[in-house]
Amino acid sequence: MRKIIIDTDTATDDAIAIIMALKCKDFNVLGITTVAGNVNIVQASSNALYTSELCGFKIPVYQGASSPLKRKLETSKFFHGKDGLGDTGPYKPKSKIRKSYAADRIISFLKKNPNEIEIIAIGPLTNIAEVYKKDPKSFKLIKNLYIMGGIGEGKGNITEFAEFNFWVDPDAADIVLNTTINIKVIAWDVTQLYGFLNQENFAELQKINNKISNFALNIQRRGLKYYQKKYKENKIDLADPLAMAVMIDDSETLYKKCKIKIILDGEKRGRDTYKFTDSGNIKLATQVSRSNFLKILKSSLEK
Ligand code: RIB
Ligand code: CA
Repeated sequence: MRKIIIDTDTATDDAIAIIMALKCKDFNVLGITTVAGNVNIVQASSNALYTSELCGFKIPVYQGASSPLKRKLETSKFFHGKDGLGDTGPYKPKSKIRKSYAADRIISFLKKNPNEIEIIAIGPLTNIAEVYKKDPKSFKLIKNLYIMGGIGEGKGNITEFAEFNFWVDPDAADIVLNTTINIKVIAWDVTQLYGFLNQENFAELQKINNKISNFALNIQRRGLKYYQKKYKENKIDLADPLAMAVMIDDSETLYKKCKIKIILDGEKRGRDTYKFTDSGNIKLATQVSRSNFLKILKSSLEK
């Protein structure tokens, strides 16, 4: 079994990614750590607890950073809704968050399971950067770090230059992306190419019609309306679920090795810039199997 930690700012697409991870038979999810991003930290934690309980799990949830390293929090409630789950709730978890602070708990997990833990970060990288700052030695014990973030070789989604997770906390992104561990980045460019759901996909998934699939689809409705209004498109891009599908099975994923620098300020704040080199420790996903993504997503909602 693969030992996994999910670091998330739990909103509509994060919730589907968490469901996919919990339903993956190869995953032993040691814990979920929450970070402020799409919504505030309390809401992100509540959403993570609820999603895990909905799947019949009691995964420990450890609350983390309530704001970026050096900036004030800017959420994306305009898209995900006030509660982060498309305002289709209320969704009230029964269990409570654990006492340990996210970065501290990640460090203790890493010390107990050296070079065995894979982390997927599907929100701003504040918690991950805090792990590095607090204990750079333990940070190096991360076996693999999967990151949903950045624009890759495309355009931004929060500004034309930047993707939301890297834009919210560019300082954290720059710290993490300048470490030397194994990092795989699934950015907004491949999300738009391979990780979208159109009406046909939705109709297919709606046939599943169980409590988990209905939750997963209902919380997307607000985002769908946003796409229809802003882009005149009947689709939605699911960044975190695509990243989770790559983590689950990247046998058909193509990567380019690189080094990444982050622009910290100005109109290009949060922009990821690339130097493609075989000596890079970072692999940027450049091609993802859409059929594999849809297959994993569908089977996760059917179980
Ligand atoms: O830009 C997409 C990312 O920002 C996803 O992680 C989504 O949940 C938001 O956090
Ligand atoms: Ca997210």
